[in-house]
Amino acid sequence: MKERYDELVSILNKANYEYHVLDNPTITDQEYDKYLRELIDLEIKHPEYVTPDSPTNKIGGEVIEGFNKVRHEIPMLSLSNVFNESEIIEFDNRIKKEGFNPSYVCELKIDGLSVSLKYENGYFKSAATRGDGVVGEDITHNVKTIKSIPLKINKDIDIEVRGEIFMSKKTLEELNKKRKENGEPLLQNCRNAAAGSIRQLDSKIAKERKLDAFIYHLPNPEEYGIKSHLEALEFMKDLGFKTNPNNRLVSDVNGILDFITEKGSIREELPYDIDGVVIKVNDLNTQKLLGFTAKYPKWATAYKFPATEVLTKLTDIIFTVGRTGQITPNAVLEPVIVQGSTIRRATLHNEQYVLDKDLKIGDIVSIRKAGDVIPEVVKSLKERRTGKEKPFKMIKNCPICNSELVLSKSGIDYFCKNDLCPKRNIESLIHYVERKAMNIDGLGERIIEDFYNMGIITTVIDIYNLYTKKQELTELEGFGEKSISNLLESIEKSKENSLERLIFALGIKGIGEKNAKILAKKYKNIHELENASIDELNSIKDIGPILACNIVEYFNDVNNLSLINNLEELGINVNYNGEETVENDNFKDKRFVVTGTLSNYSRDEIKNIIELNGGISVDSVSKKTDVVIVGENPGSKYDKAKDLGITIWDEQTLESMLK
Ligand code: IVH
Repeated sequence: MKERYDELVSILNKANYEYHVLDNPTITDQEYDKYLRELIDLEIKHPEYVTPDSPTNKIGGEVIEGFNKVRHEIPMLSLSNVFNESEIIEFDNRIKKEGFNPSYVCELKIDGLSVSLKYENGYFKSAATRGDGVVGEDITHNVKTIKSIPLKINKDIDIEVRGEIFMSKKTLEELNKKRKENGEPLLQNCRNAAAGSIRQLDSKIAKERKLDAFIYHLPNPEEYGIKSHLEALEFMKDLGFKTNPNNRLVSDVNGILDFITEKGSIREELPYDIDGVVIKVNDLNTQKLLGFTAKYPKWATAYKFPATEVLTKLTDIIFTVGRTGQITPNAVLEPVIVQGSTIRRATLHNEQYVLDKDLKIGDIVSIRKAGDVIPEVVKSLKERRTGKEKPFKMIKNCPICNSELVLSKSGIDYFCKNDLCPKRNIESLIHYVERKAMNIDGLGERIIEDFYNMGIITTVIDIYNLYTKKQELTELEGFGEKSISNLLESIEKSKENSLERLIFALGIKGIGEKNAKILAKKYKNIHELENASIDELNSIKDIGPILACNIVEYFNDVNNLSLINNLEELGINVNYNGEETVENDNFKDKRFVVTGTLSNYSRDEIKNIIELNGGISVDSVSKKTDVVIVGENPGSKYDKAKDLGITIWDEQTLESMLK
């Protein structure tokens, strides 16, 4: 019986692979269903038979309470962008200047969301989103349901692979057809639809959304003795992953340009959305030598297809209120699809911008959008005017609280000065919890707005009292126990933030993330900052007279002072914690020795960096040393490290480990 079970697993997995990866089915749907039925019956009778690669895993139904965070051992980087031929040539030239003459692999840039997949001993173990590149979210339960992602690969190895989850155009169309029939809002485009499906707690939904995935990156090629990206693609394909059939090795920049022209012309016919072409140096050793910039690999780039301009009608101009009370005019547009997403709004920045473009309500305007870039109104078509268009008029009162607007000193922007204006308060709360500010997870814009309107959170103080409203939260739709406890945990954790986050979060006019850090470093404690004079602040490099005035003005307001005191009473840290240490598993608790001269770091700097990342810097090499960082002209420590078989990092490797 168990033999039959194993046979069924193997038949069904093979059928799955042929259908979803190779696009070449060898059994009919009826046969597949018959085998699956037989397998399910066996699993019911003999639950002890069930293997981790059983195709019933793909049925979905697992419901999770919230998304767990996952740290990527090797960060998931994104790519630099190029937009035209000369930028592509420049990319190639930059590599040539470093002494290489590489061939490249050109790939389609799939418009979905990136994913990291982990396998242990050949079995699918877990999947995570990219997140901020360092920490993503565990989406194992949903990824399990994706038919083209194998639950068991063809070698019993541990491996991580990365790729793109996407939804086909046809699936989106079918899905939207159903949603329309049910009166549900339509999904904007394939990427949003894929991302939305992956963010479901119930994996049945992801399963129904028929997601698909292409695998395009092997983060640890050296572990498998792989020397080129093309080989890596081949290796992953042989393991049973779906790689994109359009991938192509080209020998020079002309090959890249041909690939782009060719794929640009078949773009519309492809069954999935692409937003460009990815170009990668093929040789992995060259990749390693080229290394990374602060944000991107230097050995790859993404060519983005050009912006598209479309015409639509400017049906209205409405005004929004920001955190500081700033009023922004926004274009309300007759919805148009530009590059797969529906555009309904575009910012018009300020009164002068609208006057300069001579926009009138009712005008036909051209809209431009490129990739993820915010859509922009390029111009109005004066020749299409009928005479019925209405001129633009700046408002005089706040659209939310009706208080009289005040023109800024620069004469450009209008402000609502009412501290009690609900919209200003909501925006301030959104700013306070933002990732770069107090970094409170689980309080997105929508939730803040809802909580504000329900009276659950009306001031930042309420955030810290949220734990008293646990019961109330449980009764709200979309709040599971796990998400509530994650939220409360994140709030609690935020209390320990270093001072710079608090300064930024308070929203003092003109004080961004960088200045907040400068102030925190200098004053070390919020009360010291409170007492700083204009002159003193003005003398700080980067602050200047206007910001100095803003800071003093902020702390002269008794409401602000009492807010700070209340926060302190609630246990919010108001001190500078020193440089933020990053939990970097590449360094954490490891012993490092540095030898030779590094081009970008002095000895002290590198020691500091090792320690900031959780490592231990030691002077001599021994068996206990975990990593030796080797620069130019290394000494005998290098030889000793080699003799002892200790991991050796060159400067590029070091930099990639830091990302
Ligand atoms: S390679 C270090 N290849 O584009 C290598 N990315 O702008 C990182 N993407 O975050 C990625 N298709 O989500 C790569 N064939 C492809 C891709 C691709 C789509 C996405 C991916 C990445 C983003 C970069």
